[in-house]
Amino acid sequence: MFTIIVAENYEEVSHEASKLMRETLRSKENPVLGLAAGSTPLGLYEEMITDYILGNTSYRKVRTWNLDEYLGVPENDPHSRRSFMNEHLFEKIDIFRENTHIPRGDASDPEEECRRYEEELQKTVIDLQILGIGRDGHIGFNEPGTPFDALTHVTTLTEETRNDNARYFDGNPLLVPEKAITMGPASIMRARNIVIIATGEAKADAVYKMIKGPQKESCPASILQDHSHVTVITDPAAAARI
Ligand code: PGA
Repeated sequence: MFTIIVAENYEEVSHEASKLMRETLRSKENPVLGLAAGSTPLGLYEEMITDYILGNTSYRKVRTWNLDEYLGVPENDPHSRRSFMNEHLFEKIDIFRENTHIPRGDASDPEEECRRYEEELQKTVIDLQILGIGRDGHIGFNEPGTPFDALTHVTTLTEETRNDNARYFDGNPLLVPEKAITMGPASIMRARNIVIIATGEAKADAVYKMIKGPQKESCPASILQDHSHVTVITDPAAAARI
C-alpha cells in the first residue's frame, strides 16, 4: 500500500523524507538503513548530516546497506557508489565505516560477491529502505525485465540508465560501466518500511506506472504495490500523472 506525499519542491521532498528517517532512528535501538546513491536522496543526506552537526542524531548504532555498485569499479575509485556515499554522507557523520555495507564492484568473482552480500543481508532486516526510481521504473539497478523474485545479482545497465548516469562520468555514457551488482526486487521487498523519492517531470511516467500501472516486471518499481509500508514522496512535477 502506498502513502503518497506530494511536497512543494525538492527541499520539502527531502524534508518529508528526513522526518521519516528521524522517526526510524529514534524508535529503533540499532537502526538498519537501506541507502541509495544517486542525486535524488542528496537533500535527505544533507538533512541527516545537519542533524548530526546539531547534535540531534548520532549514527554510532546505525548499520547501512546500499543497493548497488558498478561492476569493475574499485571502492576507492571516485566514480564508485562507495566513494559517492563516503563523500555525501558517511564521512560527514559519526557512523562506523565497518557498519556501512556496499557490494564490492571489484570482487574477483562477482557472482560469489552477490551471494556473500545477499547472505549477510538476509541476517538482518532493513528498518527503512530509501529508494530513488529510474525513468524506466528501475529500483536499485533492477532494470525492466528483472524477475521480481531476483535477489542480489549482476545486472546489465540499459542505454537509458548509462545515459542518465553519464553525469557522474564526465558526461560520457561510454565511461559508465555496462554492468553492476544490485540488490534484487525480492531483497528490497524484505524491508520493513520503504520510502521512494522522485522529483522532476522525467520521473512522472515511472511514478504513474509504479502506483497505478499493472504489476509487471517491465516496471520493476511496480513490485512495491505488494508491500504494506511504502511512502512515495514526490514534487508536483513527478506526481503529474497520478
Ligand atoms: P537519480 O537516480 O536519483 O540520480 O535520479 C535514481 C535511480 O536511478 O534510481
